[in-house]
Amino acid sequence: MEGEHYLYQLPVLPVQGKSVKSKLFSVSDCQAIVKKAIVERLRKHYKKTSWFEENGPLFKIEIALHKDIATLTIDTSGVGLHKRGYRVNQGEAPLKETLAAALIQLTNWHPDRPFFDPFCGSGTIPIEAALIGQNIAPGFNRDFASESWPWIGKKVWEDARNEAEDLAKYDQPLQITGTDIDHRMIEVSKENAIEAGLGDLITFKQMQVSDITTKNEYGVLVGNPPYGERLGERKEVEKMYRDMGKAFAELDTWSVYILTSYEQFEEVYGKKATKKRKLFNGFIRTDLYQYWGPRPPRV
Ligand SMILES: C[S@@+](CC[C@H](N)C(=O)[O-])C[C@H]1O[C@@H](n2cnc3c(N)ncnc32)[C@H](O)[C@@H]1O
Repeated sequence: MEGEHYLYQLPVLPVQGKSVKSKLFSVSDCQAIVKKAIVERLRKHYKKTSWFEENGPLFKIEIALHKDIATLTIDTSGVGLHKRGYRVNQGEAPLKETLAAALIQLTNWHPDRPFFDPFCGSGTIPIEAALIGQNIAPGFNRDFASESWPWIGKKVWEDARNEAEDLAKYDQPLQITGTDIDHRMIEVSKENAIEAGLGDLITFKQMQVSDITTKNEYGVLVGNPPYGERLGERKEVEKMYRDMGKAFAELDTWSVYILTSYEQFEEVYGKKATKKRKLFNGFIRTDLYQYWGPRPPRV
């Protein structure tokens, strides 16, 4: 039985901690106390007298103290959920996959409308759009820490994966394009899309944003351009935003969403956003400038 295996392979129990506005402020002491308490209980339960060797599955534990209330959690995922497992390579400032997915979900994109990312970098936004467009579960090609927990059992995981597979719409046609000024990033995007199993679904090509034109209508464009925060970059980025404003003025049926920390974006781009939304890209405070286009006609 799988459960019995657990008796002989003792869990690995790293304990992390944090303390905010609490009397117990020494995080390392709290971690040590929690670890000792867990180990004591396990020793009693399994009638072991000696300290045991941790050689089994990983149970990452966290003790979080907030205003004197302690919350004890076990991490079922392992590496962060934003790591979907397809990004084999990346550029200088890649977006977290989860933020890329959130940006798409903040738009009114529907899989039968064209989708465009003019600053695709390592391809995160177009790849996430393809996953959303075909309803493919995020994380379908990664492992989770709790897969090695014997008491969950392999069947539960198999069933969950089969359920996700049944819900995927692999026949949904998509028109997704990613472009970038840097041809090396186009190669990286292609590699990552292939790793995600979406190689044929997304078109990647080298192009600078000011050259973008399209005959497609009612599309959705989501871009994460450079923010011009580094010394010497600002002037160049301002010029690029200005040129982008002129190029996108032609896309009058499109909805445009630009994420940047550059505070005068609307002035330089030349148009006031329909709506602005504050978002954190890691520790950088940014705004998602939203320019809503007209609704596509009903067919
Ligand atoms: C912040 S990164 C985008 C990162 C991307 N979202 C990802 O997850 O990997 C900005 C990208 O804009 C590209 N870029 C800079 N200037 C550009 C321009 N004028 N036209 C098109 N792309 C440009 C850079 O090569 C870089 O890959």
